[in-house]
Amino acid sequence: MRALTLEGVDYLASPEAGEALAALAAGPAKSLDSLATLEALRRRHGPERAAWLLDQARLRRRAQGKFPPGPLLFEAEALEMASAREVAAWRARRLLPFGRVLDLGAGVGGDTLALAAAGLEVVAVERDPVRAALLAHNLRVAGCAARVEVCCADWTGGAFDGAARAAFVDPARRRGGRRTVRLADGTPPLSAVLALAEHLDTVLFKAAPGVDRGEVPAGAGLEFVSLRGELKEALLSFGAARPEGAGARAVVLPGGEVLAPSGPEPPARVASPGAWLYEPDPAVLRAGQVRALGARLDAWQLDPEVAYLTGDRAVETPFARRWRVLRAGRFGGRKELARWLRAEGAGPVTVRGRGVPVDFEGLARRLPRARGGPPRTVFLSRSPAGPLAILAAACSGAEEAE
Ligand SMILES: C[S@@+](CC[C@H](N)C(=O)[O-])C[C@H]1O[C@@H](n2cnc3c(N)ncnc32)[C@H](O)[C@@H]1O
Repeated sequence: MRALTLEGVDYLASPEAGEALAALAAGPAKSLDSLATLEALRRRHGPERAAWLLDQARLRRRAQGKFPPGPLLFEAEALEMASAREVAAWRARRLLPFGRVLDLGAGVGGDTLALAAAGLEVVAVERDPVRAALLAHNLRVAGCAARVEVCCADWTGGAFDGAARAAFVDPARRRGGRRTVRLADGTPPLSAVLALAEHLDTVLFKAAPGVDRGEVPAGAGLEFVSLRGELKEALLSFGAARPEGAGARAVVLPGGEVLAPSGPEPPARVASPGAWLYEPDPAVLRAGQVRALGARLDAWQLDPEVAYLTGDRAVETPFARRWRVLRAGRFGGRKELARWLRAEGAGPVTVRGRGVPVDFEGLARRLPRARGGPPRTVFLSRSPAGPLAILAAACSGAEEAE
C-alpha cells in the first residue's frame, strides 16, 4: 500500500477521484489486482494517484459491512482497528443519556459515526493528521459533520477533560507492528484511561477480547461482547455507565442479550450426554458464565473443565448454539466414527472438540460422507470416563424448543 498523505486525502476526496473510485467499484473485484487496471490509472492520473486510487478501491471493499455504505475513505491499519458497526451502535446507545461524548482515539470513525448516528454530540480526537482528515471526510459524506467536532490532537494530558462528561476510549493495540492484548501496552495505556475516569462521569474503554482479567482494575465493569458468535471485544466501564453487580457479563449481539452473574458460580454438574448439546457463545466462555448458563438451560457439563453443555430439554437461547444428539459414546477412533456416519447416511462432516488431542480437520478429511446426505458434526470431548464422541445435527430456529 502507498503511504497516504494529507495531499492524498484531498485528492481522494475530489470529484475526479470520486468518479475513478466509482468506476473501480462497478468493475469486477479481480480487476483491482490486474496490471492493466493499474497501467490505465497511471496513464490517466499519474503513478502516485493511481496507487492511492487502487488502494482506496480495495479498502472500500474490505470496509463493506463494517462501515455504512457511501464514498467513505480509509487507511489500512485504521480500517483494521475500526469497530464493527453493530458493536459500535450498541456502545453508542449506552452513552445516549450523556448527550455529549468524547471519542478518544477516533481513527477513521467506526465509533464516531455510530455515536453521531445515535444522536450524540461528539468531540472526536485523533492524533494522526491523515486519519483525522479521513475522519472529517467520512463524517461529511455520512451527513454527521454538524454533530461532531474533529480535533487532531493527543488527548492525554487533560486538554479535553472538560469538553464532555462522558468518554469512549479505543486505544491502538499494536506495538512494533504486532498486536498486544495488554492494557498497559496500549497506545495510550490503561494508566491514561484511569486518570481520565477520575475526572468524568463515565468512561467506556474498549479492550482486546483476550485481555488478562488480572489487569482489569477492581472498580471497572467488564463485559465480553460477541457479534453473531464471534468474540469482538472486552468493554471496561467506569462510573455511571458501569453495569451494577460484580463479575463479568456476556453480551451477545446483534440482539444485545446480556448474561450477568447472579450470585456465586453454581457447582459443576457433570454427566454423560443428554438429547441436546449446547455450545456456549464465546462471550459466555470468556465471562466465565458456562455453569450459570447450564443452570438456565437445565443442562450439565460433559467434563468440569470443558465448556460443552448437554441436557434433555431443548431450550432456545441466544447464549449457545444447540445441536440434536444423534449418537454418543466413548470415542473409539476413526473406524468406529465411520461406522456411525455410514449408519446415519451422513453427508459432509465437521469435527470439533475440546480437551482431546486430535487433529480435527485431518480426522474429518478421513471420514466417509454419503453423497447428498445431511451435514453432520462430530464433537469430541474430554470426560471423566475418557474421551467422548457425539454425532450431532445442527438446529436452527425455535422449531424444536420448548
Ligand atoms: C483502535 S484505533 C480507533 C478505532 C476507532 N474507534 C474506530 O472504530 O474506527 C485507535 C486510534 O487512536 C489513535 N491514538 C492513539 N493514541 C492517541 C492519543 N494519545 N491521542 C489521540 N489519538 C490517539 C491512533 O492514532 C488510532 O487511530
